[in-house]
Parts: sequence; C-alpha cells; structure tokens
Amino acid sequence: MAGSGKNDVRSYRNFINGQWVGGTADETFPVYDPSTEEVIARVAVASSASVDRAVNAARTAFETGPWPQTTPQDRGRLLFKLADKIRQNAALLAELEARNTGKPIVEAEYDIADTATCFEYYGGLANKIMGQVLPVPANALSFTMKEPVGVAGQIIPWNYPLMMAAWKLAPALAAGCTCVLKPAEQTPITAMEMAGWFEEIGLPPGVVNIINGMGETTGAALVAHPGVDKIAFTGSAAVGKIIVKSAADTLKRVTLELGGKSPNIFFADADWEASVDGALFGVFINQGEVCSAGSRILVEKKIYSKFVEAMVEKAKRIKLGAPLERDTKMGPLVSKEQYDRVSSYLEIGKKEARVAIGGGRAKQFGKGYYVEPTIFCDVNNNARIAREEIFGPVATVIPFDGEADAIRIANDTPYGLAAAVWTRDIYKAFRVVKAVRAGIVWVNHMQPTYVEAPWGGYKQSGFGRELGPWGLEEYLETKQVFVNLDETPIGWY
Ligand code: NAI
Ligand code: MG
Repeated sequence: MAGSGKNDVRSYRNFINGQWVGGTADETFPVYDPSTEEVIARVAVASSASVDRAVNAARTAFETGPWPQTTPQDRGRLLFKLADKIRQNAALLAELEARNTGKPIVEAEYDIADTATCFEYYGGLANKIMGQVLPVPANALSFTMKEPVGVAGQIIPWNYPLMMAAWKLAPALAAGCTCVLKPAEQTPITAMEMAGWFEEIGLPPGVVNIINGMGETTGAALVAHPGVDKIAFTGSAAVGKIIVKSAADTLKRVTLELGGKSPNIFFADADWEASVDGALFGVFINQGEVCSAGSRILVEKKIYSKFVEAMVEKAKRIKLGAPLERDTKMGPLVSKEQYDRVSSYLEIGKKEARVAIGGGRAKQFGKGYYVEPTIFCDVNNNARIAREEIFGPVATVIPFDGEADAIRIANDTPYGLAAAVWTRDIYKAFRVVKAVRAGIVWVNHMQPTYVEAPWGGYKQSGFGRELGPWGLEEYLETKQVFVNLDETPIGWY
C-alpha cells in the first residue's frame, strides 16, 4: 500500500477483513513530517460504518473463522514471521518512523528492533498458556482454563508508533484474541506498512484490522461498540477517563497506560558523571515525548546548584537536527498541536520558576516543530510545570533535603508510572524503591525497558500491565471447571 517513492505523498486505506477499504472517494486526512511541516501521506478516515465492519470482521474471525482452529504453536509461528518481516524491512520502517514522528533515526532503529523483539517474545509465549488443577476434595476434579478475552479494541499514541502497535497486538494474538487497532492520527504510516504483510505471513482475514481517524470519532466509536470485549489504551489521562466512562455502558474490560510526572531522584553520594547524564537522558530522550519521562528531577540540596550547572553545560551540547541525520540527538516535536502545547507550558514555567537553559523555539530552524531542551530550576512541586504532564523536552529541577523529603516530594503527584533513584548507598536505594508509589522503579538508571518486565502505572497513570506474562494475562479470561467424580445423587430433595 506504500506510495511510489520517498518524496511522494503516500496514501493508505483502512485494513478491514483482510482487504484495503476506503478509496479516494472517502474522506482522508493528512499526515505530516514535523521537521518540514510538509504532508507526507494521506489516510482514509474510518467512518462509524467502517468501525462497525472492522469490529464485525474481528467478531466473525474470533468465533467462526480459521483463527479459533489455529493451534497455539501456529499462532506463535505467525508472530515470529511478522517479527522476521519487521527485521527484514527495519531500515525502511525506521526511516518512515523518524520522518513521521520527528525522532532521531538512531532512536527509530532501536524502536523497530524492540518492536520485532516484542512479537518474538509473545510468539514464544503463545504455546505456554496453561491452566491449573485445583486442590478440591477427592470426589471431584477442578481446573482452570485460560481463554482469549475476545475482540480487543486497541488505541495507541504517536510517540512510539509501531512499538505501541506491537505492545498491543502481540499479546492479544498470542492469547487467541482478534484485534481492531487504531493508530494515532499523527502517525499511522508504519502500522499500515505492517498491515501490508499480514496476508503474506498467513494471518487469516479479520484477525487484525487497522482503522484510522480522529480519536473523538473513530476512536470513540470503537470504544462504544458492543462487539468489542476489551479496550487497551495508551495516551493521555484525560482520554483515559473518557474511555472508562464510555466502556462502562457495555462493561468492557479496560486497561490504560497513561502519562506521568515521574521523579528522577539524585542523592549527593551518587556517581556524578552518570547522574548528570542520567538526568538529561531521563527527560530528553525522544524529545521528552515519553510517558515515563523523568520530568521531575529531584536533587539533594547540598549538590543542587552544582548539579543544575553541570546539567546546563551538558544540555548545551545536545545536537538538535533533522531526524534522518545520524548525529541528531533531538528532533522536532511530533505535531503543531504538541508544539503549541509544550510552548504554552514554557510560558507558564517562566512565571513559576527560573529558566536555567532553553525556554523557547529552537530558532536555528526555519521550519519544523523544534523546541529547545529546557531546564527550569528552583521549581516548587506545587507549580503547574511540576504537576502536569508536558510531554516535551522540559525538565523541572526540584531541591530536596534528605531521604524523607525526597520520598514525600516524589509521591506528591497524581501520577505513578515510573521513578528512578541514584545513590551508592544500597540501604537507601531499596528504602526509596519500597516507598515510591510507582509501577516502575529504576536504580542508577532511567528508561531501560525490557519486554520481559511489566510496564504500567499506579494512581492516575492507569491500570493493568503490559509486557511480560502480565501483558498476556490482560487478554485472557479464566474459566473454572468443576467435574463431579461421584455418581451418587445429591440427595437434597
Ligand atoms: P490522546 O490521548 O488524545 O491520544 C492518544 C490516542 O487516543 C490517539 O490514538 C487518539 O486518536 C485517541 N483518542 C483521543 N481521544 C479519544 C476518544 N475520545 N476516544 C477514543 N480514542 C481517543 O493524546 P494527544 O492528544 O495526542 O496528546 C495529548 C497529551 O497526552 C500529551 O501532551 C501527553 O501529555 C499525553 N500523551 C501520553 C502518552 C503516553 O504514552 N502515556 C502518549 C501520547 C500522549
Ligand atoms: Mg488528544
């Protein structure tokens, strides 16, 4: 379905029941390269009738198609084949991802490799889904069966487009579910390229449907549809709340991976070079468009001034540039909307705290949604820039006085996705690990993410877990079976 060449405008339809639907007559929406602000693709909008077709196709495939007859081993093999396709086309996918999101090409290459790894991981788990035999009295047999939850509606964001698709599709398919996936309207390209391989690898029609459109219309229709059994969502807390309310009408299962305002905590005894590096990496990787961004940098008072100075010196060296240049360390933000949103927080921040570096548009670029890496210091944890998710290259640095103060500030947030703590003191490190209310805690690092480990948040960062066996579990129902081994009647009446 790809367009004809690198600089042409590509066009994509929706992938429903194994077919490309929605032609030129359908309404389309533009997709941009955020470094040039040019349109690079046009994508057909899935109307509510198309959403209905996609859900019905997934329903039929779940109930009567070849999918329920496909062995767990063969489901696993399909996921391996998809992973192989992704690895074979990694260069193309990374380039498309970098052009569409604005992220540096080197980061996009890591993302594509991680995407394939995710399909491989769940390919391996597909035939390891097992129930248990339960210790009931001798005259009975009781066991559990694990069964797919059904049709999964999956709504994903724009910061890691293909990787987020993998985090959703891979465990669902391993579990035996069928899927209707809606990519973010800013970044549908790589998912649509992937859909082009489904037939070739032997995925039966209707098992994965990919539909495009705005969240408020296409996304909302998917969430409300009675034929969907479960919604898996990654995105803003605001939309997470809308989804829970809408899904309540049909009591769908819901898992949510929302944002955060994650604390990255530095004690005075931590390794100095590693800490300064880790503070910057934690908040600036992927332009700061990361749900687990370490956007609240908590620094012990006795090293605070020196630490901010060292961060500023190093931040000056961050190479902003075109996404496809290999030495680029920071590209533009994904969209005009996100640029405006981040810019408005920069103005709010200037009233609330002191700018240590950055604070505006990166003026060396005539075009593109480039923002300077920005560090606000002397930030009060009650400031809006310390409480609200900004989702851009904006750090707030907050001083603390001792361990108890660090823990208090770290937990003083509505979110609870991630946290990191840096110290050479193993006692202190693990006390903080226990005290912090967050789903992910790193010690002397921030951001490494492995498909083997669970991912998800406490508090308003959502519920449910992705990745590892936990991610698979979210796509399974548990059936209990009781077998009477005793032929004598109950004898009650
Ligand atoms: P968003 O939450 O509006 O969009 C994420 C996905 O949800 C997209 O696919 C969108 O089409 C869909 N969506 C939006 N409204 C919907 C609705 N009513 N029903 C069903 N689906 C809907 O995020 P947006 O507007 O792109 O970014 C706003 C903020 O959200 C960011 O500044 C950031 O703070 C946060 N965010 C968090 C992410 C995370 O990884 N946790 C990812 C993206 C954004
Ligand atoms: Mg939105």
